[in-house]
Amino acid sequence: MTDGLNLLIVDDEPNIRAGLEKGLQTEADFITTAADFNEALDKFNEVHFQIVIADVRLPGDRDGLDLISSILERKPDTTVIIITAHGTVETAVDAMRRGAFDFVTKPVDLNLIRQQVRKAFNHHRLQTENQVLKDRLAGAGEISGIIGSCASMQEVFQQVRQVADTDATVLIQGESGTGKELIARALHDLSSRSSRPFVAVNLGALPESLLESELFGHEKGSFTGASRTKPGCFEQSRGGTLFLDEVTEIPPKSQVDLLRVLETGQFRRVGGEELLSSDARIVSATNKDIQVLIEEETVREDLYYRLNIIPIHIPPLRRRREDIPLLIEHFLQHFCDRHVRPLKHVSEEAMYLLTSHSWPGNVRQLRNVMERLVVTVNHEQIEVEHLPAEFHRTSGAEKALVRSLAEVVEEAEKQAITAALIASDYHREQTAKKLGVSVRTLHYKMSRYGLH
Ligand SMILES: Nc1ncnc2c1ncn2[C@@H]1O[C@H](COP(=O)(O)OP(=O)(O)OP(=O)(O)O)[C@@H](O)[C@H]1O
Ligand SMILES: [Mg+2]
Repeated sequence: MTDGLNLLIVDDEPNIRAGLEKGLQTEADFITTAADFNEALDKFNEVHFQIVIADVRLPGDRDGLDLISSILERKPDTTVIIITAHGTVETAVDAMRRGAFDFVTKPVDLNLIRQQVRKAFNHHRLQTENQVLKDRLAGAGEISGIIGSCASMQEVFQQVRQVADTDATVLIQGESGTGKELIARALHDLSSRSSRPFVAVNLGALPESLLESELFGHEKGSFTGASRTKPGCFEQSRGGTLFLDEVTEIPPKSQVDLLRVLETGQFRRVGGEELLSSDARIVSATNKDIQVLIEEETVREDLYYRLNIIPIHIPPLRRRREDIPLLIEHFLQHFCDRHVRPLKHVSEEAMYLLTSHSWPGNVRQLRNVMERLVVTVNHEQIEVEHLPAEFHRTSGAEKALVRSLAEVVEEAEKQAITAALIASDYHREQTAKKLGVSVRTLHYKMSRYGLH
């Protein structure tokens, strides 16, 4: 009962209760009534009612106005409609001041109150939708600016929270642009090391000759060009986090050196005598399939085991398409802000193409596309023709395969409703009963899907 549209009617006159209950049957999924303040509040505490219709005049020492206050104190988002005697404008005003949504005067016009209930439910639905959207954007389950509401990303976030404040070595695997560096920073930010340095070093971008000096530092004069002593990444990240990006790119000889440091926590600067130590927490990342590299003997297996104490896998964007609209919204806000443009949105059709794209460059590519659209499109709405050429070339086969969840649900609903209609010989009430929905819901869905 609590998931549908629930309505509570409060009036001391049995006739009015019965009349309203019958007259509003088609407007709600569940209706119940109460005869006074106490009964009303008891019922209100049991079930989640979105709407309460209450007579101002109630028996006992507490009236409908008191009820408004008590209800809104408990659930401020409840919509209260008040019934007042004809000509009591002051009472109506008082009710609205206390937070009533609307009022009707006696004798109650059924058509009018039906409209008001519909309006109230719509209002309520909009409010809830806005709240859901806000919660999602405000980051229920999010970590410091990382978007992801799909189950696989929620699992990643869960893992990040679990291991962030430990010293365990983490290996992050995922295709290029999936957010590995973002996750590495989150691990640091959520740990008690967050006030200490986060040092990132891209091991794929360094020539072999510089690698050792970059990691372990060097003494003045240790090689040509070493004009002064320089600490390496291991020293700089003391007490903090050392992020070894593209860790699989290290040449075999340096892999041995790195392994030794990871095992002992001790190292020497290039050209130095002194044995130094570092307690940096090691997080590394790769966009390669590390198992293949081990088989090819490009990566030492013992190094792999040392780095891969806690594995975190980030799925590619095409495996979590439900996150695409959220990411788009996030990047639009970000770039419209940064480039001082009015907030843009994406047309339904363009959103469809963006969501069904394969995104080989993952989130980074999506981010770049959104920035380009913000800068180049002068309309408030981004349309299909604004998208880069590759989006117009989505093959028919791909389009047919990729369907949004909403489409799949709609298709299934349509089939279920059609089958139930046929089975009950197009009798609406029986059909609704079979489907476990109200007649109102059935009508709504039928008109939505064009089933008549
Ligand atoms: N879930 C996400 N939410 C918001 N922004 C994201 C998300 N994932 C990635 N990004 C953004 O996408 C870009 C690429 O992310 P990042 O640099 O972390 O990827 P990567 O996995 O390290 O890629 P590469 O393997 O190419 O180094 C960054 O600008 C990052 O902020
Ligand atoms: Mg990276």
